[in-house]
Amino acid sequence: MPNLFTKNTLFYGDNLPILQECFSTESIDLIYLDPPFNSKRDYMVFKEEGEGENPAPLQAFKDTWPWDAATQATFEDLCLNASLPLKKLLQTFYDLLGPKQLTAYLVMMTPRLVELHRILKPTGSLYLHCDPTASHYLKLLLDAIFGTKNFRNEIVWKRTSAHNNTKTGFGKIHDRLLYYAKDIRLVCFKPVFEAYKPAYLAAEFKQDEQGRWYKVENLTAPASGGTGGKFCFRGRTPGPSRRWSMKEEELERLWQAGRIKKDQEGRPLLRGQIVYLEEKKGRPIQDWWDDLRRVGNTAKERLGYPTQKPLALLERILQASSNAGAWVLDPFCGCGTTLVAAQKLQRNWVGIELNLQTAALHQKRLEDLFGLFPQRDYEVK
Ligand SMILES: C[S@@+](CC[C@H](N)C(=O)[O-])C[C@H]1O[C@@H](n2cnc3c(N)ncnc32)[C@H](O)[C@@H]1O
Repeated sequence: MPNLFTKNTLFYGDNLPILQECFSTESIDLIYLDPPFNSKRDYMVFKEEGEGENPAPLQAFKDTWPWDAATQATFEDLCLNASLPLKKLLQTFYDLLGPKQLTAYLVMMTPRLVELHRILKPTGSLYLHCDPTASHYLKLLLDAIFGTKNFRNEIVWKRTSAHNNTKTGFGKIHDRLLYYAKDIRLVCFKPVFEAYKPAYLAAEFKQDEQGRWYKVENLTAPASGGTGGKFCFRGRTPGPSRRWSMKEEELERLWQAGRIKKDQEGRPLLRGQIVYLEEKKGRPIQDWWDDLRRVGNTAKERLGYPTQKPLALLERILQASSNAGAWVLDPFCGCGTTLVAAQKLQRNWVGIELNLQTAALHQKRLEDLFGLFPQRDYEVK
């Protein structure tokens, strides 16, 4: 069955039947999902009704998960029909936690994660945005669905610097993103870089006689890594636990260009590669993200939708795990941040959102930022 959409599309409805009925197997390059976190809260948006009137609360979405008849039926169905590791895991959750909210939340997430795994291309990636309330259980679910070998990172996003909830524990200031590849051997991943911090620049870089900033880097790698190998280059061989980080021809090219420092006997220094600042892309982003600010009260991008995520967070994920023209899906798309990032970076996008009240918000956001109109520039289903 081909996908039941051919261009950028916004679906309104429950994502489970939409994923099952409208998405073909292995058709999506990148999935970011930011589902409700089991916060046991109902989120509201306030809409100004008019002058002099009180703002009217609209329910944006519920984040409470009673163990009801529908949950029991889904649980029983999964215990019969899911893969063996998933059946065992769900039964363990039930035994450990009982028929409670957290178990109901995990039962709700399970068939959705199974579907998301099905529709990912072999080169595809999934980022599940959650917080410590349930991240450890969600990781077990993802391990059972994707296989432990396809787990890539647990990214910590420090969303704020301090929180008031410090009376009975430490302030809760971070979210987590669980990043999995459909297949670790084929996954599309491109490192993303950030500019060096001034303190790092001052500590690591020096100026040469021509005023160019440079850094001296190691020419060797641990014996288990590096593409060079163990050999004698111009009178020097790396120690027992090390090897050259590049092939002999490349070392020779650097030597001839004067890009390797020498010791007093004229032999190459193992830590002697001269690299100029303008050749460096910056610091590769690690799994600890403390440089992306949450969407605060005064942020320009703020729409007033609860749990809106910063555009920069989505841009980073899309840059790392997709190319222009890729298909990006957000099955819990809230106020549409992923769609905006995808449109900005020339990716194709599909968003699914349960709450019909967000339709006007999505459509206005896409029109204001890109001049896009529903049905003309993208489909609404
Ligand atoms: C945490 S918010 C996502 C926020 C989003 N990342 C953003 O930046 O705006 C979760 C969203 O998932 C939606 N949602 C909850 N259950 C859903 C379901 N079964 N199908 C589709 N959307 C759902 C909620 O209405 C809510 O808008």
